[in-house]
Amino acid sequence: MEIGNTDAVRLTDVSKVYGRRANQVVALEEVTTAFGRGTFTAIMGPSGSGKSTLLQCAAGLDQPTSGSVLLDGHEISTMDETELTMLRRERIGFVFQSFNLLPVLTVRQNVTLPLRLGGRKPARGRVSQVLEQVGLGQRSNHRPAELSGGQQQRVAIARALITDPAVIFADEPTGSLDTRSARDVLTLLSGSARSTGQTIVMVTHDPVAASYADRVLFLADGRLAGELHSPTAESVAERMTRLGAFADEDDLARAGAVRGGQR
Ligand SMILES: Nc1ncnc2c1ncn2[C@@H]1O[C@H](COP(=O)(O)OP(=O)(O)OP(=O)(O)O)[C@@H](O)[C@H]1O
Ligand SMILES: [Mg+2]
Repeated sequence: MEIGNTDAVRLTDVSKVYGRRANQVVALEEVTTAFGRGTFTAIMGPSGSGKSTLLQCAAGLDQPTSGSVLLDGHEISTMDETELTMLRRERIGFVFQSFNLLPVLTVRQNVTLPLRLGGRKPARGRVSQVLEQVGLGQRSNHRPAELSGGQQQRVAIARALITDPAVIFADEPTGSLDTRSARDVLTLLSGSARSTGQTIVMVTHDPVAASYADRVLFLADGRLAGELHSPTAESVAERMTRLGAFADEDDLARAGAVRGGQR
């Protein structure tokens, strides 16, 4: 594949093996791919296919067993833990399924936490600007427990955006949200890729969520199993069915709902 220097993240022959000897699990096997600046990519595949492992290796949360990961121009597969921590703090944002907000802190304090951990102060007006961007300008002094799930996830996105990272990695960010909140979060993510050139890499099980991305990468058994550009929920669901990903009834119902005409 063609790999240009406009890539925010580039993985070359990345393998990840957990455990040793008889207990070895090959979670990723020689994965080569790239994520261009300002692009929004969804990663899909059956449970256990290596999606979270790929995200963690690409984000410097875990080291590959072999291969190279170039993040924002930095080779991270050879960095030590201190260098990785610095890079993650400065150049990467994370959004998880479970929001991971600190309950005793207000919305504003949660959002500024990554900066304060790095000994920095937000530029004047920047916090309000980011909170406006995620539609929570009026809620800055509330605590997470006073917000809906969708609002909490938008706080987590504001926290990811505050450092103006090169890449935002999201692992099933809509996994615990209702349809409407999920749509808000996805619109926000795709909007930030389009308007501010943020690179977004999102793991999801949901073909509707994946349809918001510019491109979908499919994984099966730790290997790349194809990609789709300008995906629709239908084309994604069809590909996932072929990969044998929709094995249980919930997934089938979801694929059915997609075919029933949801976005
Ligand atoms: N810390 C670990 N130790 C051993 N094996 C692991 C570890 N983490 C993941 N694995 C294995 O690696 C493989 C890929 O796991 P991974 O979590 O990346 O899958 P996934 O595609 O994110 O699955 P899911 O959709 O269920 O979240 C699985 O077989 C898993 O059991
Ligand atoms: Mg996972």
